[in-house]
Amino acid sequence: MKREKLEKLKKKPMDKNTDRIALSRNYYNKLSRFFDYISPDSYYRKARKAAVSSLDLQEGQTVLNVPVGTGQIFKYFQGYLHGTGQIIGVDLSEDMLSEAFEKIASNGYSNISLEERDVAEINTAWLEDFRKNNPDTQIDAILCDLGLSGFEDWEQVIQNFLSVLKPEGRLVVMDWELPEPSLRGEFIKWIGGGEVDRPIPSYLSTQLEQFEVDHSFNRGGVFVASGIKPSGMGS
Ligand SMILES: C[S@@+](CC[C@H](N)C(=O)[O-])C[C@H]1O[C@@H](n2cnc3c(N)ncnc32)[C@H](O)[C@@H]1O
Repeated sequence: MKREKLEKLKKKPMDKNTDRIALSRNYYNKLSRFFDYISPDSYYRKARKAAVSSLDLQEGQTVLNVPVGTGQIFKYFQGYLHGTGQIIGVDLSEDMLSEAFEKIASNGYSNISLEERDVAEINTAWLEDFRKNNPDTQIDAILCDLGLSGFEDWEQVIQNFLSVLKPEGRLVVMDWELPEPSLRGEFIKWIGGGEVDRPIPSYLSTQLEQFEVDHSFNRGGVFVASGIKPSGMGS
């Protein structure tokens, strides 16, 4: 390595979070072209159907989806929205978003917007900013699918989701939970880069009203948890 390059690297402060985010972005950028083959929609179909049904979406409503990935979920949302309202898809990887954009273009969807950002930026400041171009937008529902098992500070991410959700809006989470160490768990961690033993449903049960969880998907490995933001919390 050249001397100047080494000096630059030494000077650059090491930020563990920034490094993890860069690694994750690179990983999914590389995977993006093969993602729909490696992780086909058919594998998660039952869980996705249940998750989107739990959102209780009505025509004209706004749903926030993080991480949107390649947009496999779009057709499920459209089954309820029928092209009305808005779907806001957020993801860290520009190449995963390009794949999602292909689905938008090929299906002629006009109610979907995509944003390239870290989930940590989804907070009240983000919503305020979003409302500058989309006045009066309220987030009626949030779906976080296959995200929280990999996100840093996942409890804070849930708090941020609740801060942007309208009072009594629905938060739905679909993810892996394999609390006991297993070969299957190691494989899922290896493919997705996340953790499979985070107590996500149990934490959600303390934060949401009308909490429900179904652990019956993908041979008991995948759960769909849902509930309502307590009415006392502002948006
Ligand atoms: C396993 S994929 C799931 C995508 C989609 N929800 C699905 O079910 O197909 C995980 C996604 O999380 C995104 N991601 C990882 N870290 C992120 C972060 N900090 N902020 C936003 N998105 C992130 C990746 O780019 C990738 O698209």
